[in-house]
Amino acid sequence: MEKIVSLCKRRGFIFQSSEIYGGLNGVWDYGPLGTELKNNLKQYWWRVIVRERDDVVGLDGAILTHPAVLKASGHVDTFTDPMVDCRTCKARLRSDQLAEKNGVKQCPNCGGKDLTEARPFNLMFQTQMGASADPASIAYLRPETAQSIFVQFKNVLDVSRKKLPFGIAQIGKAFRNEINPRNFTFRSREFEQMELEYFCRPEQGMDLLAYWLKERIKFYEEIGISRKRLHILDVPEKERAFYSKGTFDIEYEFPFGRQELEGVAYRTDYDLQQHIKTSGKVLDYFDEETKERVVPHVVEPSAGVDRAVLALICDAYDEDSAPDEKGKMETRVVMRFHPRMAPIKCAVFPLLRNKEALVAKAREVQALLRPHMNVFYDEGSAIGRRYRRQDEIGTPFGVTIDFETLGEKGEELRDTVTLRDRDSMKQERVAIKDLPEIISSRIR
Ligand code: GLY
Repeated sequence: MEKIVSLCKRRGFIFQSSEIYGGLNGVWDYGPLGTELKNNLKQYWWRVIVRERDDVVGLDGAILTHPAVLKASGHVDTFTDPMVDCRTCKARLRSDQLAEKNGVKQCPNCGGKDLTEARPFNLMFQTQMGASADPASIAYLRPETAQSIFVQFKNVLDVSRKKLPFGIAQIGKAFRNEINPRNFTFRSREFEQMELEYFCRPEQGMDLLAYWLKERIKFYEEIGISRKRLHILDVPEKERAFYSKGTFDIEYEFPFGRQELEGVAYRTDYDLQQHIKTSGKVLDYFDEETKERVVPHVVEPSAGVDRAVLALICDAYDEDSAPDEKGKMETRVVMRFHPRMAPIKCAVFPLLRNKEALVAKAREVQALLRPHMNVFYDEGSAIGRRYRRQDEIGTPFGVTIDFETLGEKGEELRDTVTLRDRDSMKQERVAIKDLPEIISSRIR
C-alpha cells in the first residue's frame, strides 16, 4: 500500500488536503491525474446508468439539507457509531473496531485497557444557515445523496412521466464525521457517492435486487477491476437495516483487506413512507391501468466514488521489466488502467526535440487528437524515458513522430507514426489520419 500511496502523491493522483498546514484528517484532494480518473469513472457510471437506459433520469440535489428530511429518514436519531475514549492516552475510538486481547478491548494507540463505556456518536456534520444562531437555523451536510431523491420523488415523477419500474440517479458529495478515518481515502469524512434509487412495485423488489447486483458486478468488470478481487457478501438479516429485505455488499480485496465498494439494498418503501408520514404530502404513484395508487418500493445500488477510484488504482498497479536505454532490463512500474478509465489516453512524442519538422508534426497530431480525448505532449528526455513516465501513470497509447513520418525513409511511410501499446509495449505503424478512430474505438 505504501508504494501506491507514494505513487499517488508523486504523480498527482491524490494529495492530503490542506497539506501545507499539516493536513485535515480524513479529507483528500485529487490532483490533475486523480481528477481525470475520477471524472472518467463518474462519466462511465452516468453513461450506463442514465444515458444508455430509457428508465432512469438524473438529479443533482443540494448538499445543505433541511433537518426535517434527516429527522424523517432516521439519520438525526440513529445515524451513529459507538464511540469510546481511552482514559490513558485520551484517543477517541470506534468501539466496534477495537481489537481484543483475552476478551478485553484495547486502545490501538497505547495498548491501554482503561476505556470508557461506548456511547452513540452521530456522524452528521451540522451547520448554521444564515446569521442567527438559534436551533431553528440548523442545517446538515447530507450524509448520503439518496434522501434528496426520495424528497424529490414526486417532482421528478411528474416531469419525467416515467412508468414503474424507473430510477432516479445522482452523483454527488456526502459527508460523515467518521471517528477514525483510515486506509488512505477509503474511509474519508468528505466523499462522493453514485446512487441509484430504482422504484418498483412491491412484488418486483427481490427480482430487481438480483438484477441490479448482476448489473453492478458487470460495471466493475467493464471499468477493468479484476473479477477475482471482487466478492459478494449477502448481508445477514441481523446486520441489515431493519427495513431492508435484502442487501448485498460488493467488496474489493484492497491491500488492507476486503472492504465494501458498494451496497445493493432492497429498502422496501421505508423512505417514501417516512417522508409521507412526516411531511403529510402524497408521494405515491398512480397506476393508469389498475387505477390504483401505490407507494413504490425501491432497490438502491449505492457506490462510493472514492472507493472505486482507490480500487482502480490498487488493481492497476503492476511491476514488470523492460529494457532501459542501453538494453539492460530494469523494473517498470505500470498502471494497467482499462483504457476507458485511464486519465491520459494518448501521449504524443516527437522523436527528437531539436528537429523543428518533428516537433511541428507532433503538435499537429496533438491538435488532431485533442477534441477526441485527453492527450499529453512530451518532448523532453530520451524516448524510452518518456514511455516509462507514461507507463507509470497508465497512459494506454503512445504516438511517436519520427523521420519516417516526414517521408525521409520513403514516400510510402510519409504521414505515418508508431502507435505503442502500454501493456505489450508493441508498436504498430498507422496513418495519422486514422489515429482518432483507432484510439477512440479502443477507449470507448
Ligand atoms: N444510501 C446508502 C448509503 O449512503 O450508504
